[in-house]
Amino acid sequence: MNNARPIILKLGGSAITDKTVEASPKNELINRLAGEIKRADLDNLIIVHGGGSFGHPTAAKYGIQDGYKEDPTQKFGCAETHHMMTVLNGIVMDALILHEIPAVSVAPVNCITTENGKIKNFDETTLKAMGKLVFTPVMYGDTVMDEKLGFTILSGDQLVAYLALKYNAEKIVIGVDTDGIFEVDPKTNPEAKPIKHLTLTELKAFQPKIGKATGADVTGGMAGKIAELIPVVEACIPVTVTGATKSLSIYRALTDQSVLGTVIEKT
Ligand code: IPE
Repeated sequence: MNNARPIILKLGGSAITDKTVEASPKNELINRLAGEIKRADLDNLIIVHGGGSFGHPTAAKYGIQDGYKEDPTQKFGCAETHHMMTVLNGIVMDALILHEIPAVSVAPVNCITTENGKIKNFDETTLKAMGKLVFTPVMYGDTVMDEKLGFTILSGDQLVAYLALKYNAEKIVIGVDTDGIFEVDPKTNPEAKPIKHLTLTELKAFQPKIGKATGADVTGGMAGKIAELIPVVEACIPVTVTGATKSLSIYRALTDQSVLGTVIEKT
């Protein structure tokens, strides 16, 4: 990242981990994605990854997203959830470093606090200094200390939206485990095609139709993602949602080439 408007890439936890088995990274995919990021050769990139089967199960087990309920086991749960995220982050970092990307991990728990789950303070000193030297910061959904709740979970999606608005991002690319946003669930309807383009008005109309995430997802799944994206699209920052699991989709989206997925723009 340099002083140019950043491009923010979110690697969804459902794409980079197998959500059906706890703590199982998709190593091959992570490695391929690192290759695509290297090939895109961007010096204004910020990467944020999700938690998938590393962050969500532990967070759900101890109710970390709901804050501290005076249950001492939660403190360990909070620490364990953060640790699980550092383990997944280490795997992502391994792949990025192997591809000779100057990526440096920036843990949200160390520079962000929230109030009722919303980012309240962000110490940007490190991120800004990294930007000057053109490092690629890598952040992730994490446990954070919360002024009202004690602690909570900060989703990678809220972080992406926050960074995009704060630094007036050029664009956001979100890599998920489907080929974009769908009217019907492509996992149960194999014929379903992704919506190619959504305007802000269409995105808002679409929002109530999306079901809440099921299972161990503590940050609201696609519905949570879309809620975070609305202010970003309102600020004229375009968002591409594409399949990180499809070869070259992330590379193509990062380098402004057409891609199977959903482009969301204000108009
Ligand atoms: C969740 O981050 C982080 C934790 C549960 C600790 P995200 O909400 O961004 O993760 P994914 O992308 O949905 O897995």
